[in-house]
Amino acid sequence: MQTITLNEKAQGKLNLANKVILITGAGDGIGRALAIACAKEGATTILLGKSLKKLEAVYDEIMSQNLPEPAIHPLNLLQAQPKDAYALAESIHNLFGKLDAVVHNAGISGQITPLEHLAPEKWQEVVQLNLNVPYLLTHALLPLLKMSDSPSILFTTADEAKQAKAYWSAYSASKFGVRGLAQSLHEELDNTAIRVNCINPGKVRTNLRIKVYPGIDPLTFPAPEEIVPHYVYLLSEQGKHIKGNLVNVA
Ligand SMILES: NC(=O)c1ccc[n+]([C@@H]2O[C@H](COP(=O)([O-])OP(=O)(O)OC[C@H]3O[C@@H](n4cnc5c(N)ncnc54)[C@H](OP(=O)(O)O)[C@@H]3O)[C@@H](O)[C@H]2O)c1
Repeated sequence: MQTITLNEKAQGKLNLANKVILITGAGDGIGRALAIACAKEGATTILLGKSLKKLEAVYDEIMSQNLPEPAIHPLNLLQAQPKDAYALAESIHNLFGKLDAVVHNAGISGQITPLEHLAPEKWQEVVQLNLNVPYLLTHALLPLLKMSDSPSILFTTADEAKQAKAYWSAYSASKFGVRGLAQSLHEELDNTAIRVNCINPGKVRTNLRIKVYPGIDPLTFPAPEEIVPHYVYLLSEQGKHIKGNLVNVA
């Protein structure tokens, strides 16, 4: 995968009209801001997350702005099994008959600690959510994505997938794994219409980052709303030429 940096927001109007976009982790942080931004560009979003209350709040926010009505799919991805992924695919098929994009955004940092203190179940949680779930969902959703004219799969990596750091073993391993998954899938699908990319959002002011760096003033990090235009660009018709890339948000 070639690494590129998107340091300018796309100029002009981005087009997501009539697109159906599934966003995991849509109740908070980057996923929440992305769902609202996609709806503003005309997309119908499927909001997947753990907390129904948070998903309902995003739904209400989108509806209050008279944007396309989203669908809500509460699911604790830590417990997700293949049958849950197939049930999601079936439900999207019944509601929309296609899927134009999936953004694998839900993620956790897990315990930031020396490996010898890292409890096995904490390792498994991080790898389950950050790596196994993107595989499971992609596997179940590929047939639906193939029904779209312009399908897109966007995986989320992080700086820790460029250079692993001490105490971040589970997170780094999961994000390096996502890069490998995305690259392999891109190679398989390169001669099809399906675009596979990874995005590294950089440092963003969300609960995930604030929890891990409690000593840093959160205001030094950009808000999710400031970085999601890059995601929207990648998902839009205007970003259609970007394929098989690891995109860094500058
Ligand atoms: N923030 C950064 O600086 C940064 C940097 C690099 C990469 N990233 C990546 O960006 C992505 C989004 O992170 P964020 O910063 O926006 O974090 P966040 O604010 O903590 O949001 C994470 C989202 O994932 C969902 N989630 C967590 N556990 C879940 C579960 N068991 N089942 C279903 N959904 C679950 C959360 O839903 P609930 O709220 O309902 O639990 C929440 O919507 C992650 O993949 C992260 O690794 C973030």
